[in-house]
Amino acid sequence: MRDLKQLSNRSVYVSPSLLAADFCRLGDEVKRITDAGADMLHLDVMDGVFVPNISFGIPVITSLRSASDDLLFDTHLMIAHPAQYAAAFAKAGADHLTFHLESDDPVDDVISAIRATGCTVGISLKPATPAEAVFPYLDKVDMVLVMTVEPGFGGQKFMPDMMPKARAIRDEIDRRGLAVHLQVDGGVQGGNAQLCRDSGCNILVAGTSVFRAPDAATAISDLKN
Ligand code: DX5
Ligand code: ZN
Repeated sequence: MRDLKQLSNRSVYVSPSLLAADFCRLGDEVKRITDAGADMLHLDVMDGVFVPNISFGIPVITSLRSASDDLLFDTHLMIAHPAQYAAAFAKAGADHLTFHLESDDPVDDVISAIRATGCTVGISLKPATPAEAVFPYLDKVDMVLVMTVEPGFGGQKFMPDMMPKARAIRDEIDRRGLAVHLQVDGGVQGGNAQLCRDSGCNILVAGTSVFRAPDAATAISDLKN
């Protein structure tokens, strides 16, 4: 199932972040997480400009795609200029592209560029960006991502004070009757998953708590139940 639109925004999904995987053996890690029951794979792309870190990009995603025909590639673009790279990420095998509202490109231009590729569209908000900033775009996207850490690094502490923002976005999505997913990303683990769900989030990104768990399948089911 590689189409986010086929998933219900009333169901809970787990998107393990590859950032916490063993980069020496990425193909095996993708297989391991698929077997453990991941609903999709979260790919954190960092350009060293939008965030103070550099992760991986287009060639790595191309290689990962050859290791997985079925897993939805949920790509989180922490890059300053997402519009000009949307087509290349889609060609590499991304199924979904989330960009940051705070990037340097005009938001409507990025949405159009992503739509043109056939990928589904997500908009992400850094912790300091208020819920209302995304409201003008809610009817144009398939997902909103609420960051619960400052983007740039895995393994940070979850910010519970982002939950009222998630609640406000979910309430506005529901008020308008939209089929938009709400994703939460940063420090998500078994101890705060219920809070995320209670706040209206239905896609849980989890790097450290899944890839570094003794048993990934248990970690994924703990997040879901
Ligand atoms: C942070 C990334 C997150 C992060 C998640 O910039 O967007 O996806 O890697 O990792 P954990 O779950 O370890 O916080
Ligand atoms: Zn991410």
